[in-house]
Amino acid sequence: MKVDVLLGLQWGDEGKGKVVDVLTPRYDVVARFQGGPNAGHTLEFEGKKYVLRSIPSGIFQHGQVNIIGNGVVLDPVLFKDEAVALEASGIDIKKVLKISKKAHLIMPTHRLLDAANEQRKGDAKIGTTGKGIGPTYTDKISRNGLRIGDIFCNFESKYAAAKAKHIDTLNAFGVAVDLEEKEKAWMDAIEYIKTFDIIDSEFYVNKMLDEGKSVLCEGAQGTMLDVDFGSYPFVTSSNTICAGACSGLGIAPNRIGEVFGIFKAYCTRVGSGPFPTELFDETGKTIRAIGHEYGAVTGRERRCGWIDLVALRYAIMLNGVTQLIMMKSDVLDSFETIKACVAYRINGEETRDFPFSIDEDIEPVYVELPGWQTDMTRIKAESDFPKNFKDYIAFLENELKVPITILSVGPDREQTIVRN
Ligand code: GDP
Ligand code: IMO
Ligand code: MG
Repeated sequence: MKVDVLLGLQWGDEGKGKVVDVLTPRYDVVARFQGGPNAGHTLEFEGKKYVLRSIPSGIFQHGQVNIIGNGVVLDPVLFKDEAVALEASGIDIKKVLKISKKAHLIMPTHRLLDAANEQRKGDAKIGTTGKGIGPTYTDKISRNGLRIGDIFCNFESKYAAAKAKHIDTLNAFGVAVDLEEKEKAWMDAIEYIKTFDIIDSEFYVNKMLDEGKSVLCEGAQGTMLDVDFGSYPFVTSSNTICAGACSGLGIAPNRIGEVFGIFKAYCTRVGSGPFPTELFDETGKTIRAIGHEYGAVTGRERRCGWIDLVALRYAIMLNGVTQLIMMKSDVLDSFETIKACVAYRINGEETRDFPFSIDEDIEPVYVELPGWQTDMTRIKAESDFPKNFKDYIAFLENELKVPITILSVGPDREQTIVRN
């Protein structure tokens, strides 16, 4: 059996959580492969709204196994909060969730280091989520990290050694460190994690596949935040692209099947960094207001702009996207005209290829399309699409050369149209 991957093609918050929840009934296993509580994946159904950070978005359907893979970084305290809330809402989380022994732990000092790094950068700060993501992945790569599997053996001394290194750095930054309360909560949360099924998830996933079971991998963040291919250095610290599913779960590349690339009908970005199609005018504000574009984790305003097909083509190439999923087109329902950036003009020259840096002066080249001016949130079937909406889809498919197979026209599970 093959593994399908669903991932964001823009700067995150495309609506991954919603669609993973919708697709979960097709699968036996749902697995997160990278990122950590910097993610905020929103699901809405039966009048309720949930935001998941570290736990896969397959958790609300019935019977699937959910896995936190080795590529994920886990904050025990935030994980405990999330899991306890799910338990309180009636989910038998300990039965359906498994955690990789090789996932890395976010320590209280990682969060302090994240804040100190940002402060030191001043105006050049990345605008991280402040969850300790960068320092935790730094420790992983520099071979100083703590893994979930470590909690069962000589953990206190491993923790103390890692902490001592962090404190040296924090002292050098001039940061006062008072950890007592945070550490207590953290250690309590470690005990809580011990009550979960902690597994060699690479063996588990491959065994499931050998037995004919199907797996959906859920990406976090988005391709433009990928540490190699995103708008570096304004990126996250993991590989958010499809290849990250292989390294973040121990899945061989030849087992990847469908790659669902998800994008909004416009563009958003939270945090610092270049954003060629960003709108600083009333249109940007209108998109933010209608789309409720505020961070699910930090509550920060999301910067808004028109859809960027140069960046999308690049993302499709990097991920080998086989199916596109378009989200939030309903946010544009009232617009008379809609713009799409088809090329960049750099120093007077037009390019359709994503350049090395998007820091420099980039003038987006736009195509204008007539809006559909129809309330799409109630539409249930493709046969009811207004003509201008059909034309918009055809335009995007022609530009992107990949079919749009799923359309989302509202935040609720039910507001999803699967095209045949
Ligand atoms: P994720 O991080 O990719 O899972 O996305 P987020 O949950 O951070 O942000 C997506 C936001 O858009 C959430 O508030 C969703 O409830 C909402 N949303 C998802 N799909 C749609 C849609 O089609 N239309 C509208 N209006 N909102 C949507
Ligand atoms: P989901 O999974 C949007 C952004 C931060 C910052 C940069 C680095 O919900 O789509 P980090 O804390 O990872 O070191 O921050 O990445 N960022 C996200 N933006 N959605 C996310 O996740 C994000 N996770 C991180 O705002 O610019
Ligand atoms: Mg999000």
